[in-house]
Amino acid sequence: MTDRADDQTSLTAQESSGILGLGRSSGQRSAEMLAGIRAELMPKPEYLAMARPAGRVIGGLLIRLGRGEQAKSNFVIARPEAFRYLISEALRDKPNPHYVELASGFLPRAWQMASQFPQLRVTEIDLPEVMEEKQRRFSKARLVLPPNLRMLSADLGVTPLSEVLGGEKADVISAEGLLPYFTLDVVQQIGTGVRQSLKVGGIFIADILTKEAVHELGQGRARQAATLFRRNAGNWLGVVDDSAHAQELFKAVGYSRVETYRISELAERLAHLPKPVANATLFVVAHN
Ligand SMILES: C[S@@+](CC[C@H](N)C(=O)[O-])C[C@H]1O[C@@H](n2cnc3c(N)ncnc32)[C@H](O)[C@@H]1O
Repeated sequence: MTDRADDQTSLTAQESSGILGLGRSSGQRSAEMLAGIRAELMPKPEYLAMARPAGRVIGGLLIRLGRGEQAKSNFVIARPEAFRYLISEALRDKPNPHYVELASGFLPRAWQMASQFPQLRVTEIDLPEVMEEKQRRFSKARLVLPPNLRMLSADLGVTPLSEVLGGEKADVISAEGLLPYFTLDVVQQIGTGVRQSLKVGGIFIADILTKEAVHELGQGRARQAATLFRRNAGNWLGVVDDSAHAQELFKAVGYSRVETYRISELAERLAHLPKPVANATLFVVAHN
C-alpha cells in the first residue's frame, strides 16, 4: 500500500475531521461506524463489547436513515458471515493452519475463530490506535483473549506486511472493507504484498466495490446513510467495472486463479443469513 501522503503515515491513518468521538482518522471512524451498526442489529456480547456509545448512536442513525431498506441492513450482517464461510472453506484440511486478518477494525471475527478453533493460529492487524482500543474493549468486557490469537498493530501503508508478520506465511489472508478506500493501482500493490506473505496454495479473500454496488448504494433511502458513512470513513477510490475486471486485476499481479462471488449468491448457500442481501460488494478469492 503506498497511499501515504508523507513518509510516516497512510492517508487512512492521518488525522482528519469527522464526527467527534468516532476517532481521529478515517480508518478508525469507519471501523467504529461498522461496529456501531453491528451492535445495534446483532446485540451479541462480542458485538456489544466492540462498539463504543458514539458508534452505536451513529450506527442507529445510519440504520434509521435507511429505514425500509432491509436488503442493505442485511448486508451489514451478511458480509462478515459470508467472509467467515469463505475463510473456513479455504482453511479446510490445511496442516498447521495460519489465518491473518488485515484491517480487522472492531470486528471480533479473529477472536471468534481463534476461540472456536484452538489449533488455528490467528493474527489480526490494524492501525495502532484501533488495536490498542480493541484490546481495551475485550478486557473491559472480560472476554478472554485466546492464546492462539495475536493482535498486531501497523500502518500497512508504511510497513510491508511481510515485515509485520516477521516473514511468516499464512494459509489465508483476508481484508474485509479495506480495498474500497484505495485506488486500483494501490489495490494491486496490496494484492502483491499479500501474495508475498501467502504460502504456496494460500488464498487472499477480500471484497471490492463494483459499479453495480456503487449504483445500489446510491439508490433509495439508504443514499443519505451511504453519504454520511463516506463523509466520515473516507471516499471510495477503488471501483471495478465487474467480476471480470476484478479477476484481471488480481491475475495481473500473479494469482493463479481468481474467483468472484456476489454476496447475494453466497447468501443463498448460507441458510442462516438474512435475506434479501443487497449486492453492495463483490467477494474476491485469489489463489497463490
Ligand atoms: C471499513 S473498516 C473495516 C473494519 C473491519 N474489517 C470491519 O469489517 O468492521 C477499514 C479498516 O481498515 C483499517 N485501516 C485503514 N488503513 C489502514 C492502514 N494503512 N493500515 C492498517 N489498517 C488500516 C482501519 O483502521 C479500519 O479498521
